Amino acid sequence: MEPGAELAVIVPTFNERKNVLALVEKLQAALGEIRWEVIFVDDASPDGTADLVRELAAEDRRIRCIQRFGRRGLSSACVEGMLASAAPYLAVIDADLQHDERLLPLMLEELRCEAAEIVVGSRYTAGGGIGEWGAGRARLSRIGGRLGRILVPADLSDPMSGFFMMRRRVFERSRERLSAIGFKLLADVFASHPEPLLFKELPYTFRPRHAGESKLDSVTAWDYAMLLLDKLVGHIVPVRFVAFSIVGVLGIAVHFAVLAPLLQVAHTRFMVAQAIAALCAMSFNFALNNVLTYRDSRLRGWRWLRGWLLFVLACSAGGVMNVTVASFIFKSYGTWVLGALGGIVVGSMWNYAVTKFFTWGRSGT
Ligand code: GDD
Ligand code: MN
Repeated sequence: MEPGAELAVIVPTFNERKNVLALVEKLQAALGEIRWEVIFVDDASPDGTADLVRELAAEDRRIRCIQRFGRRGLSSACVEGMLASAAPYLAVIDADLQHDERLLPLMLEELRCEAAEIVVGSRYTAGGGIGEWGAGRARLSRIGGRLGRILVPADLSDPMSGFFMMRRRVFERSRERLSAIGFKLLADVFASHPEPLLFKELPYTFRPRHAGESKLDSVTAWDYAMLLLDKLVGHIVPVRFVAFSIVGVLGIAVHFAVLAPLLQVAHTRFMVAQAIAALCAMSFNFALNNVLTYRDSRLRGWRWLRGWLLFVLACSAGGVMNVTVASFIFKSYGTWVLGALGGIVVGSMWNYAVTKFFTWGRSGT
């Protein structure tokens, strides 16, 4: 019988078709005699990345593909890739050849000889570098790194790194507490592991992207904020509910911005104006929640329209509930502030729970 791989290299992909072959060749060259496998975790890339990986996999059993539908997210993709492997050592690397794969055997050596439990490819330790980055991106990366100190040990020089290798045990012991939100799995692992991790950093120079485009955008910063928030308060309140509430407060502003001119300029009847304003606020909330709160299950096309309808229906029921609870409290205790607050809390919890399940189809987190 042939034993399984010793090292699993997990590669999250979204639209990386043009990089897959080059990466596999580089891995082959770098890993030589090591028993390795590579698991591509692709989020249904429109460019057919997964099809190409499967073509390669048909020729080489070390190559595997996991394809996810209706889902997005670098960290959660990596977690699923790791769960699909039995290898005692797990690495994560970008598909676009920006990370130096020649570090992998050195990382493995550090783990094998127990010099570390986790080894990080660092751009900032002596000998590393960020290559050809614009000043803006470099600054953003540094700010992110500083904020990340909340999660990781102070002497880790590149907490934002997307290139690392760890013992399977490290993954397993952090797994349950991982937030798996956004891009920063490494910081997440450090923050989720029950004890401080014995780590080592190896320098490398960040290379320019081989083909295609970066998936990092302004919403990545929001994801990062949500990761930090989840680590800080996630055990008390679900971070999605926090995001949903922030969006809800913005929705109130939209409501008034629509209501005021309708009443004062167009002299619309109050009931009609209120209904229009509520519909605008709900639509705004739906659209914003779709790109922020539920970025990893974002709806598009027809499903967007269906989701919008479900959202409006659910929130209308939430509105009825809000008024019912508020007037009950008001009648029982006679204080309108308490009544209004009670109505808002119950109504928004209803909206959150119902739309999470019906609109975005999420039953877990
Ligand atoms: N499955 C999946 N789903 N993969 C994704 C997604 C997603 O939603 N978004 C991005 N990826 C994949 C990309 O296809 C790529 O292989 C890898 O994740 C990194 O994405 P890039 O778009 O290339 O990110 P970057 O180069 O700007 O940043 C990377 O390197 C930094 C430095 O190490 C990331 O790894 C950062 O987290 C890291 O800080
Ligand atoms: Mn990249």
